[in-house]
Amino acid sequence: MTVLVLGGAGYIGSHMVDRLVDQQTDVAVVDNLVKGHRAAVRPEARFYEGDVRDKEFMRSVFKKRKHRCSGPLCGLFYRTGKYGEATGLL
Ligand SMILES: NC(=O)c1ccc[n+]([C@@H]2O[C@H](COP(=O)([O-])OP(=O)(O)OC[C@H]3O[C@@H](n4cnc5c(N)ncnc54)[C@H](O)[C@@H]3O)[C@@H](O)[C@H]2O)c1
Repeated sequence: MTVLVLGGAGYIGSHMVDRLVDQQTDVAVVDNLVKGHRAAVRPEARFYEGDVRDKEFMRSVFKKRKHRCSGPLCGLFYRTGKYGEATGLL
């Protein structure tokens, strides 16, 4: 399973990505780069640029593979349970 880090190009998220990649975890990131930086995301992680509020965009991300959601914005996904599990800071 892939861990999807929402807001993974930001301060907390990019540190989370670093840790996960170092643990050999398969990682993907969703970030709209409103505050984050693409360069902050480790090249080992797949990067999807877009907004977590954009349902169609998020559906397209979840269609690619089953994810476990994580990161500072993942509280948005706690209630769905539809696309995988959700853990994180909110
Ligand atoms: N940095 C800290 O020490 C700290 C401490 C306690 C709480 N927090 C909270 O944790 C959260 C994250 O903090 P941070 O320092 O990593 O912030 P940050 O701004 O560095 O990271 C947030 C990331 O989310 C992205 N983002 C924002 N809205 C988005 C959206 N709609 N769709 C996709 N991506 C989006 C931004 O581009 C950015 O990369 C914030 O809510 C902050 O208040 C931070």
